[in-house]
Amino acid sequence: MKSEYQKELQDLQAKNLYRKLRVLEDHEGTHAAFEGRDLLLFCSNDYLGLSRHPRVVRAAQKALKVHGVGAGAARLISGTTSAHAALEKKLVETKGKESALVFAAGFLANLGILTAFAGEEDVIIMDKLCHASLVDGARLSKAELRVFPHKNYKKCEDLLRGSRNARRRILVTETVFSMDGDLANLKELVRLKKKYDALFVVDDAHGTGVLGKHGRGATEEGNLSKQIDIIMGTLSKALGGLGGFVAADKVLTEHLVNFARPFIFATALPPILCEAAREALCVIEEEPFLRKKLWANIHEVHLGLTELGFLIPTPESAILPIMVGDEGKAMELFNKLLAQGIFIPAVRYPTVPKGKARLRVTVSTAHTKEDIQKLIRGFKNLRR
Ligand SMILES: Cc1ncc(COP(=O)(O)O)c(C=O)c1O
Repeated sequence: MKSEYQKELQDLQAKNLYRKLRVLEDHEGTHAAFEGRDLLLFCSNDYLGLSRHPRVVRAAQKALKVHGVGAGAARLISGTTSAHAALEKKLVETKGKESALVFAAGFLANLGILTAFAGEEDVIIMDKLCHASLVDGARLSKAELRVFPHKNYKKCEDLLRGSRNARRRILVTETVFSMDGDLANLKELVRLKKKYDALFVVDDAHGTGVLGKHGRGATEEGNLSKQIDIIMGTLSKALGGLGGFVAADKVLTEHLVNFARPFIFATALPPILCEAAREALCVIEEEPFLRKKLWANIHEVHLGLTELGFLIPTPESAILPIMVGDEGKAMELFNKLLAQGIFIPAVRYPTVPKGKARLRVTVSTAHTKEDIQKLIRGFKNLRR
């Protein structure tokens, strides 16, 4: 039997789809050592460098003394601490919803949302490029999953119209698409949600901390948060830690507490991470220059790479995809950059569709001018 699994791995290798772990040492956020060499990282989702921000680290250290390392039980047993309650209060303020609920991971939050709110008699209508956690949540829910082509809201409307007889319609999108870095048209989706009486779920994993006048995310502007039923986000990207959350009306978060199995049957997020995330949300509010620097860095990277002839759409987030297509070619470019001390793993199937491999460059506030110059030199050398 083992040899069958071995064969599956060999098949992946033959298709340039094999994945392996690389152990990074002396990780400092944007730099790490790998096999004895310094590597410059342009691939993390720690967009504001908050995983190492002194205030965030201090908050975690302080919480460690009070709460210890782990929560010790699921939220409904003894795993809900004052740190969870305080973080949820802060998330209510940040996201402008009535209530919030913290999960142990963003992936679990998405599984929880879709399995709790959708069932056999329902239809889930989802953008084709939604994250694996949303796709898996939809599959687990047993609802019928209907997918519309990326940002094709005409097709989305057709699907909603065709689902009028279902018990419920659940409309799902990401705000910032994680592998393409582009934005959903939330206003148009709100219009459709209202017209077809759908429950509207948005995943703001990559918008929280990066978008909006105050960094509150993609739903901050235009009264959007009030019109979206469920705003999901993660504590693991711009907030620099780990965990997921849902912000929604109280009746919906209460429903999740009672029906979301990934919430009920998983150990609670460690309180130290709650306190770190709460401080990260305060830093985002009180230190707007971090976001200003992030956007300056994003534009500098974009300009440098487009001047070299790489076709990258105008940035709408901190994610800049360099489309390659062929998986083997993407691996070749990854290895050539690695040889120059630049680490940008090639994103391939099943993370993106077959034949749409890419280098996903992500930019952080923590990148220096020298880092950006080194990145651009690295890409220039690829052109030779
Ligand atoms: C759009 C999106 N949603 C959800 C998740 C899952 O979040 P987490 O990594 O915090 O579990 C991710 C992470 O990759 C993501 O990109």
